[in-house]
Amino acid sequence: MAANWKMHKTVREAQDYMAALLPRVADFAGEVDVAVFAPFTCLSEVARMAEGSGVIAGAQNFFYEDSGAFTGEVSAPMLLDVGARASIIGHSERRELFCETDEAVARKARRAVEAGLLPVVCVGETKEERDAGRMWEKVSGQVRAVVEGLGEASGGQVVLAYEPIWAIGTGETASPEDAQDAIGRIRELLGELRGGEFASEARILYGGSIKPGNISEIMAQKDVDGGLVGGASLEVGSFLELVGAARD
Ligand code: 13P
Repeated sequence: MAANWKMHKTVREAQDYMAALLPRVADFAGEVDVAVFAPFTCLSEVARMAEGSGVIAGAQNFFYEDSGAFTGEVSAPMLLDVGARASIIGHSERRELFCETDEAVARKARRAVEAGLLPVVCVGETKEERDAGRMWEKVSGQVRAVVEGLGEASGGQVVLAYEPIWAIGTGETASPEDAQDAIGRIRELLGELRGGEFASEARILYGGSIKPGNISEIMAQKDVDGGLVGGASLEVGSFLELVGAARD
Protein backbone atom coordinates (compact mmCIF):
# COMPACT_ATOMS: atom_id res chain seq x y z
CA MET A 1 0.00 0.00 0.00
CA ALA A 2 1.63 3.18 -1.18
CA ALA A 3 1.08 6.76 -0.02
CA ASN A 4 1.69 9.42 -2.66
CA TRP A 5 1.80 12.68 -0.74
CA LYS A 6 2.10 14.69 -3.97
CA MET A 7 2.96 18.35 -3.16
CA HIS A 8 2.02 18.16 0.51
CA LYS A 9 3.84 18.28 3.85
CA THR A 10 6.67 20.30 5.33
CA VAL A 11 9.57 18.51 7.04
CA ARG A 12 7.85 18.97 10.40
CA GLU A 13 4.57 17.54 9.11
CA ALA A 14 6.41 14.61 7.56
CA GLN A 15 8.15 13.91 10.88
CA ASP A 16 4.85 13.96 12.76
CA TYR A 17 3.27 11.62 10.22
CA MET A 18 6.13 9.12 10.29
CA ALA A 19 6.28 9.20 14.08
CA ALA A 20 2.60 8.23 14.18
CA LEU A 21 2.78 5.72 11.31
CA LEU A 22 5.84 3.67 12.18
CA PRO A 23 4.81 2.11 15.51
CA ARG A 24 1.40 1.13 14.11
CA VAL A 25 2.57 -0.16 10.78
CA ALA A 26 4.89 -2.58 12.57
CA ASP A 27 1.78 -4.73 13.16
CA PHE A 28 1.63 -5.41 9.42
CA ALA A 29 5.30 -6.32 8.97
CA GLY A 30 5.77 -9.22 6.60
CA GLU A 31 2.13 -9.07 5.50
CA VAL A 32 1.75 -5.77 3.66
CA ASP A 33 4.51 -3.80 1.95
CA VAL A 34 4.12 -0.13 2.82
CA ALA A 35 5.69 2.75 0.90
CA VAL A 36 5.63 6.51 1.40
CA PHE A 37 6.35 8.68 -1.65
CA ALA A 38 7.37 12.03 -0.24
CA PRO A 39 8.35 15.38 -1.79
CA PHE A 40 12.12 15.81 -2.27
CA THR A 41 12.33 18.37 0.53
CA CYS A 42 11.33 15.89 3.25
CA LEU A 43 12.47 12.66 1.60
CA SER A 44 15.75 12.35 3.51
CA GLU A 45 13.89 12.77 6.79
CA VAL A 46 11.21 10.22 5.82
CA ALA A 47 13.94 7.77 4.75
CA ARG A 48 15.94 8.34 7.93
CA MET A 49 12.94 7.72 10.14
CA ALA A 50 11.81 4.69 8.09
CA GLU A 51 15.22 2.99 8.27
CA GLY A 52 14.94 -0.50 9.74
CA SER A 53 11.11 -0.33 9.85
CA GLY A 54 10.40 -2.08 6.56
CA VAL A 55 8.55 1.00 5.29
CA ILE A 56 9.91 2.00 1.89
CA ALA A 57 10.74 5.68 1.44
CA GLY A 58 10.31 6.77 -2.16
CA ALA A 59 10.46 9.82 -4.42
CA GLN A 60 7.72 10.99 -6.76
CA ASN A 61 10.01 11.56 -9.76
CA PHE A 62 13.67 11.80 -10.83
CA PHE A 63 15.66 12.44 -14.00
CA TYR A 64 17.37 9.61 -15.88
CA GLU A 65 20.81 11.23 -16.12
CA ASP A 66 23.03 10.84 -13.05
CA SER A 67 24.46 14.38 -12.97
CA GLY A 68 25.02 17.38 -15.20
CA ALA A 69 23.50 20.66 -16.31
CA PHE A 70 19.86 19.78 -15.64
CA THR A 71 18.62 22.66 -13.52
CA GLY A 72 15.81 21.70 -11.19
CA GLU A 73 16.27 17.95 -11.55
CA VAL A 74 17.30 15.20 -9.11
CA SER A 75 18.99 11.93 -10.12
CA ALA A 76 18.69 8.29 -9.06
CA PRO A 77 22.06 8.30 -7.22
CA MET A 78 20.92 11.40 -5.32
CA LEU A 79 17.75 9.59 -4.24
CA LEU A 80 19.72 6.54 -3.12
CA ASP A 81 22.10 8.86 -1.26
CA VAL A 82 19.28 10.12 0.98
CA GLY A 83 17.95 6.61 1.60
CA ALA A 84 15.15 6.37 -0.97
CA ARG A 85 14.51 2.86 -2.29
CA ALA A 86 11.79 3.53 -4.85
CA SER A 87 10.34 6.20 -7.11
CA ILE A 88 7.03 6.85 -8.78
CA ILE A 89 7.61 7.34 -12.51
CA GLY A 90 5.27 8.82 -15.13
CA HIS A 91 2.45 9.82 -12.81
CA SER A 92 -0.35 11.28 -14.93
CA GLU A 93 0.19 14.67 -13.27
CA ARG A 94 3.76 14.63 -14.57
CA ARG A 95 2.70 13.40 -17.99
CA GLU A 96 -0.10 15.98 -18.31
CA LEU A 97 1.31 19.03 -16.49
CA PHE A 98 5.04 18.57 -17.11
CA CYS A 99 4.92 17.06 -20.61
CA GLU A 100 6.55 13.70 -19.77
CA THR A 101 6.52 11.40 -22.77
CA ASP A 102 6.34 7.60 -22.91
CA GLU A 103 9.98 7.69 -24.00
CA ALA A 104 11.11 9.70 -20.96
CA VAL A 105 9.07 7.43 -18.68
CA ALA A 106 10.71 4.35 -20.20
CA ARG A 107 14.19 5.83 -19.75
CA LYS A 108 13.46 6.64 -16.14
CA ALA A 109 12.14 3.13 -15.48
CA ARG A 110 15.26 1.61 -17.01
CA ARG A 111 17.57 3.89 -15.02
CA ALA A 112 15.69 3.11 -11.79
CA VAL A 113 16.17 -0.63 -12.24
CA GLU A 114 19.86 -0.22 -13.14
CA ALA A 115 20.44 2.02 -10.12
CA GLY A 116 18.59 -0.27 -7.71
CA LEU A 117 15.50 1.85 -7.16
CA LEU A 118 12.10 0.17 -7.38
CA PRO A 119 10.16 1.90 -10.17
CA VAL A 120 6.42 2.41 -9.65
CA VAL A 121 5.34 3.28 -13.17
CA CYS A 122 1.92 4.85 -13.65
CA VAL A 123 -0.34 4.31 -16.65
CA GLY A 124 -3.93 5.32 -17.29
CA GLU A 125 -6.40 6.91 -19.69
CA THR A 126 -8.35 10.18 -19.70
CA LYS A 127 -12.14 10.35 -19.55
CA GLU A 128 -12.29 11.26 -23.26
CA GLU A 129 -10.16 8.26 -24.16
CA ARG A 130 -12.32 5.92 -22.07
CA ASP A 131 -15.56 7.33 -23.49
CA ALA A 132 -14.19 6.93 -27.01
CA GLY A 133 -13.44 3.25 -26.33
CA ARG A 134 -9.69 3.89 -26.46
CA MET A 135 -8.74 2.93 -22.89
CA TRP A 136 -6.78 -0.14 -23.87
CA GLU A 137 -5.08 1.50 -26.85
CA LYS A 138 -3.70 4.17 -24.50
CA VAL A 139 -2.83 1.92 -21.57
CA SER A 140 -1.31 -0.88 -23.62
CA GLY A 141 0.84 1.66 -25.49
CA GLN A 142 2.13 3.04 -22.19
CA VAL A 143 2.85 -0.44 -20.83
CA ARG A 144 4.64 -1.54 -24.02
CA ALA A 145 6.85 1.56 -23.95
CA VAL A 146 7.90 0.88 -20.36
CA VAL A 147 8.47 -2.84 -20.76
CA GLU A 148 10.54 -2.36 -23.93
CA GLY A 149 12.76 0.05 -22.00
CA LEU A 150 13.27 -2.26 -19.05
CA GLY A 151 16.01 -4.45 -20.45
CA GLU A 152 16.59 -7.63 -18.49
CA ALA A 153 14.72 -6.61 -15.33
CA SER A 154 12.71 -9.35 -13.65
CA GLY A 155 9.04 -8.91 -12.78
CA GLY A 156 9.86 -8.57 -9.10
CA GLN A 157 11.89 -5.44 -9.83
CA VAL A 158 8.90 -3.62 -11.29
CA VAL A 159 5.65 -2.17 -10.00
CA LEU A 160 3.00 -0.75 -12.32
CA ALA A 161 0.10 1.40 -11.18
CA TYR A 162 -3.10 1.66 -13.21
CA GLU A 163 -4.46 5.10 -12.43
CA PRO A 164 -7.35 6.17 -14.67
CA ILE A 165 -6.90 9.94 -14.89
CA TRP A 166 -10.63 10.61 -14.51
CA ALA A 167 -10.57 8.88 -11.11
CA ILE A 168 -7.64 10.83 -9.61
CA GLY A 169 -8.67 13.30 -6.94
CA THR A 170 -12.22 13.40 -8.28
CA GLY A 171 -13.99 11.11 -5.83
CA GLU A 172 -15.00 9.04 -8.86
CA THR A 173 -13.39 5.62 -8.40
CA ALA A 174 -13.17 3.07 -11.16
CA SER A 175 -15.57 0.26 -10.36
CA PRO A 176 -13.79 -2.80 -8.96
CA GLU A 177 -14.68 -4.56 -12.23
CA ASP A 178 -13.12 -1.77 -14.33
CA ALA A 179 -9.98 -1.89 -12.18
CA GLN A 180 -9.78 -5.67 -12.57
CA ASP A 181 -10.46 -5.47 -16.31
CA ALA A 182 -7.60 -3.01 -16.93
CA ILE A 183 -5.16 -4.60 -14.50
CA GLY A 184 -5.94 -8.14 -15.69
CA ARG A 185 -5.27 -7.03 -19.27
CA ILE A 186 -2.02 -5.34 -18.22
CA ARG A 187 -0.90 -8.60 -16.60
CA GLU A 188 -1.82 -10.56 -19.72
CA LEU A 189 0.17 -8.13 -21.85
CA LEU A 190 3.19 -8.48 -19.54
CA GLY A 191 2.91 -12.23 -20.07
CA GLU A 192 2.87 -11.82 -23.86
CA LEU A 193 5.84 -9.45 -23.79
CA ARG A 194 8.01 -11.02 -21.11
CA GLY A 195 6.57 -14.41 -20.15
CA GLY A 196 4.36 -15.76 -17.40
CA GLU A 197 6.91 -15.57 -14.60
CA PHE A 198 7.54 -11.86 -15.19
CA ALA A 199 3.79 -11.22 -15.35
CA SER A 200 3.02 -12.99 -12.10
CA GLU A 201 5.96 -11.47 -10.21
CA ALA A 202 5.27 -7.86 -11.28
CA ARG A 203 3.06 -6.04 -8.83
CA ILE A 204 0.21 -4.00 -10.26
CA LEU A 205 -1.52 -1.38 -8.13
CA TYR A 206 -4.76 0.52 -8.63
CA GLY A 207 -4.88 4.27 -7.94
CA GLY A 208 -7.66 6.84 -8.10
CA SER A 209 -9.91 8.01 -5.23
CA ILE A 210 -9.09 5.03 -3.00
CA LYS A 211 -10.64 5.48 0.44
CA PRO A 212 -11.27 3.31 3.49
CA GLY A 213 -14.84 2.85 2.19
CA ASN A 214 -13.90 1.35 -1.16
CA ILE A 215 -10.54 -0.34 -0.62
CA SER A 216 -11.85 -3.79 0.30
CA GLU A 217 -13.77 -4.33 -2.91
CA ILE A 218 -10.82 -3.07 -4.96
CA MET A 219 -8.34 -5.32 -3.13
CA ALA A 220 -10.70 -8.28 -3.58
CA GLN A 221 -10.05 -8.23 -7.33
CA LYS A 222 -7.86 -11.07 -8.51
CA ASP A 223 -5.13 -9.08 -10.25
CA VAL A 224 -5.02 -6.02 -7.95
CA ASP A 225 -1.92 -6.27 -5.76
CA GLY A 226 -2.32 -2.99 -3.88
CA GLY A 227 -3.12 0.69 -4.01
CA LEU A 228 -1.38 3.98 -4.81
CA VAL A 229 -3.19 6.54 -2.72
CA GLY A 230 -3.20 10.33 -2.88
CA GLY A 231 -5.74 12.21 -0.77
CA ALA A 232 -6.59 9.40 1.66
CA SER A 233 -2.90 8.85 2.45
CA LEU A 234 -2.37 12.34 3.87
CA GLU A 235 -3.89 11.48 7.25
CA VAL A 236 -2.12 8.66 9.08
CA GLY A 237 -5.40 7.23 10.38
CA SER A 238 -7.01 6.71 7.00
CA PHE A 239 -3.77 5.43 5.45
CA LEU A 240 -3.49 2.86 8.24
CA GLU A 241 -7.06 1.73 7.54
CA LEU A 242 -6.02 1.14 3.93
CA VAL A 243 -2.94 -0.82 5.01
CA GLY A 244 -5.14 -2.93 7.26
CA ALA A 245 -7.61 -3.59 4.45
CA ALA A 246 -4.74 -4.81 2.26
CA ARG A 247 -3.98 -7.49 4.83
CA ASP A 248 -7.57 -8.70 5.30
P1 13P B 1 -6.19 10.26 -5.18
O1 13P B 1 -6.12 9.08 -4.27
O2 13P B 1 -6.14 11.57 -4.44
O3 13P B 1 -7.32 10.16 -6.17
O4 13P B 1 -4.84 10.24 -6.05
C1 13P B 1 -4.48 9.07 -6.69
C2 13P B 1 -3.10 9.22 -7.19
O5 13P B 1 -2.85 9.98 -8.11
C3 13P B 1 -2.04 8.44 -6.52
O6 13P B 1 -0.84 8.53 -7.23
